[in-house]
Amino acid sequence: MSTPEQIVDRFRQSNYSHQHDIPGNRIFYTDSTSSTIVWAEENVVIEYYLLFPNVDVPLHSHPFANQMIFLSGDLTASRELPDKRIVTKKFTDADTHYLGTIMPAGLCHGFVTGDRGCALYNIQIWDKPRETVLSAAIEYLGTSMGPIHEKAMAKLKP
Ligand SMILES: [Fe+2]
Repeated sequence: MSTPEQIVDRFRQSNYSHQHDIPGNRIFYTDSTSSTIVWAEENVVIEYYLLFPNVDVPLHSHPFANQMIFLSGDLTASRELPDKRIVTKKFTDADTHYLGTIMPAGLCHGFVTGDRGCALYNIQIWDKPRETVLSAAIEYLGTSMGPIHEKAMAKLKP
């Protein structure tokens, strides 16, 4: 049994190796994003995300604790603190490989991208090991990203 920190550390030490035999994996896409799962181990699911250029992903939350590794592009990320204040951070290529702090399940966050869009790894940390993997875009609570996203959630959410 590994801790989530140990699993994330192994993923980073592997130079972000992608597993290619994850059952149920697919390309997930919405009005603003496309993604696929690249690492699934115990209670940790790591997803490679492309956020399209000039999109605004509204504030939302997930039923898992959340961490990200920023890769490249232009991103402004907002996050709600437990006292409901919203903090915002801008990411550019100078932040490549930045590992965020773990955000507890249920806290709201949102994203705005610039002309180049953004690539990142999104890390889901669940309470228990996951039998099946799903995108964070499907395990999503809040205002949707649009009709494509709503259709994907209706189709794929158990
Ligand atoms: Fe999210």
